[in-house]
Amino acid sequence: MDKKIEKIKKEIKCFHIKTYDDLETFRIKFLGKKKGIITILFKELSKIHIHKRKIFGKIINELKKETQNKINIFHYKYKNDDHKNDKDAKFDPTIPGKSVEIGSRHPLSILNNRIIDLFMKIGFTYVDGPEIEDDWHNFTALNIPIFHPSRDMQDTFFLCKNPDILLRTHTSSVQIRYMKKHKPPFRILSIGKVYRNETISSRSNFMFHQAEGFYIDKKVSFSNLKQTIHYLITSLFGKAKIRFRPSYFPFTEPSAEVDIYCNNEWIEIMGCGMVDPQVFKNVNIDAEIYSGFAFGLGIERLALIIYKMKDIRIYFDNDIRFLKQFKSEF
Ligand code: PHE
Repeated sequence: MDKKIEKIKKEIKCFHIKTYDDLETFRIKFLGKKKGIITILFKELSKIHIHKRKIFGKIINELKKETQNKINIFHYKYKNDDHKNDKDAKFDPTIPGKSVEIGSRHPLSILNNRIIDLFMKIGFTYVDGPEIEDDWHNFTALNIPIFHPSRDMQDTFFLCKNPDILLRTHTSSVQIRYMKKHKPPFRILSIGKVYRNETISSRSNFMFHQAEGFYIDKKVSFSNLKQTIHYLITSLFGKAKIRFRPSYFPFTEPSAEVDIYCNNEWIEIMGCGMVDPQVFKNVNIDAEIYSGFAFGLGIERLALIIYKMKDIRIYFDNDIRFLKQFKSEF
């Protein structure tokens, strides 16, 4: 019996299948319903002594598997072949595979990931926030009064049917969402799209990206904020001239804007400041115990400087010739 099995095994292995006709002959020879070699072996199994039946059953099953495999492999190789019935059809393993084109990361994504990496290194946690916001998270809780110009229909995309719902105008709404749910201390970074009803130009768009960072703890000071911004800018640019310009935001006090000196001009890249006690009150954090800083960074602006571009529209044109130049590093 062993010899017989060995012989069949060899026959299966050596059977040359070049065409679909060969395949059919092969199938009938081994698995044919009436006279297939393996089919007959299965039939004989019942005549074998019960002790040996188990062992031989296993062996025959193996043979069947091998046969089936061989059939499957042929099918797989020829499934897209137009010459299925061509008697001379040959499988040529030397034909090179079809190459899959691999894209590259978008320059803004590369920059976002780089910023996330830098903040992870200094203990920040990354969180996401919704782009569709309500008035309270985007404005009221951030101490933005009801008649503030940014709430104007001309500046914010409100939902016509429900003016309480809007496309967030900044990522500062993430501060509110996070602070409402968590007790300090925390260091948070969030990056995402924001929307403003602005005319499209080389420096502005109705949609752009912001990175929001905030750090709340006991005794957080303005110098912590300056140090953090300094760390970010020097990590991205090496040595760079930056300045903090006094400014105003309803949700920070004091507030500042940060500019970078580049090509003989100062370019504004972010707003920042110490979280206003009124904001803490709105999210039930004790302003007597905790203090913190927050900043909102314009990603496209930063990308213009880093990649030496002049017009932010280039990031949204989807011109592959431009996009494919970017590697994960800069
Ligand atoms: N949200 C502000 C803006 O979009 C930026 C900012 C964030 C300012 C955090 C201060 C603190 O202009």
